[in-house]
Amino acid sequence: MMAVYEATATAPVNIACIKYWGKRDTKLILPVNSSLSVTLNQDDLCATTTARADLAFERDRLWLNNKEEEIKAGGRLATCIAGMRSLRREFEKTDNSLPKIAEYHVHIASKNNFPTAAGLASSAAGFAALVSALAQLYKLPTTPSELSIIARQGSGSACRSLFGGYVAWEMGTKDDGSDSRAVQVAGREHWPEIHALICVVSDIKKGTSSTSGMQRTVETSPLLQHRTSNIVPERMTAISKAIKERDFPTFAQLTMADSNQFHAVCLDTEPPIFYMNDVSRAIIATIVEYNRAAVAAGGEVKAAYTYDAGPNAVIYTLKENVKEIIELVSHYLPHAVPFKDAYGLFAGTQPVGRLPA
Ligand code: ADP
Ligand code: DP6
Ligand code: CO
Repeated sequence: MMAVYEATATAPVNIACIKYWGKRDTKLILPVNSSLSVTLNQDDLCATTTARADLAFERDRLWLNNKEEEIKAGGRLATCIAGMRSLRREFEKTDNSLPKIAEYHVHIASKNNFPTAAGLASSAAGFAALVSALAQLYKLPTTPSELSIIARQGSGSACRSLFGGYVAWEMGTKDDGSDSRAVQVAGREHWPEIHALICVVSDIKKGTSSTSGMQRTVETSPLLQHRTSNIVPERMTAISKAIKERDFPTFAQLTMADSNQFHAVCLDTEPPIFYMNDVSRAIIATIVEYNRAAVAAGGEVKAAYTYDAGPNAVIYTLKENVKEIIELVSHYLPHAVPFKDAYGLFAGTQPVGRLPA
């Protein structure tokens, strides 16, 4: 019987607290600033990717959510596949008994169990799952850090999905990108009380992809320079410290401030980019009021909203507040929804994203 070379991997999404927005090298995907995110639980929002290598395949092909996507020569998909294939080729050189499957073409099928291209980091889960599936197919002895360098060249945010817990993407300084990779700041178990609530405001594909949006920001926004030089470096240090100390109010304030500033640079782009909508803003108002009331009652900030490049909210909070926040959002947001079914808590019965170890 002929051997079948096939492997399946899943990867979770990650939602940034300090946002990546802007590239200094668009081909290698090197960012203009470091960023930091939380990786959500694999079971809740994930991409599942199967890769198969077969001598009979005539070319590399990929299907996303059952629809074939073109693998453009020199494009991101081709770069990631080529990167993994060349690692396999090196590996085959180390052991003559290994089958020469680097020479075969691959067919890849991926599905997301959450909205694609809607600002919930599908490109992050997608490219992390792609490199993981190929690493498994090729039985490579690679580390998550090495894979993060290849995933980064598919979608920048994907490098952070190779690790669970609290993850930084260090921008690096080298021109070849060899030091622009993800590192784990703390594992999930370090701060298991944190939960992420995903509020799906709209599941339709965004009008401006992250890739083209950030490119336009780099070309036109005077505010971006100030952000990358004077704001983000200090925030990276401060949020890492807050995570290490499990200081939720500081973590929350930095997260909200950085979401605000990211959307401010989008607005500062020519022509301006609007990723949030009225429902997104109503959720912000609800969280602001919730925190104000908590502080007024002698307590501390209890929740943080953050928005990627889309209208969907992610709310970070501690476990003890989850029930209250779900009730609050469910109660107040129907009044802010302009259309029927325009929002919902993701996955209905399981709105709480637990985080992996
Ligand atoms: P998002 O906010 O969802 O990350 P982006 O604009 O960054 O949106 O990227 C969306 C693109 O990422 C999709 O159009 C597709 O090209 C790619 N993508 C999404 N999911 C996958 C996947 N599972 N496998 C491969 N590529 C994916
Ligand atoms: C707002 O990683 O999707 O989600 O590198 O062009 O694929 P490309 O962009 P992408 O950008 C993510 C932007 C963000 C912030 C973040 O995840 O850090
Ligand atoms: Co993306």
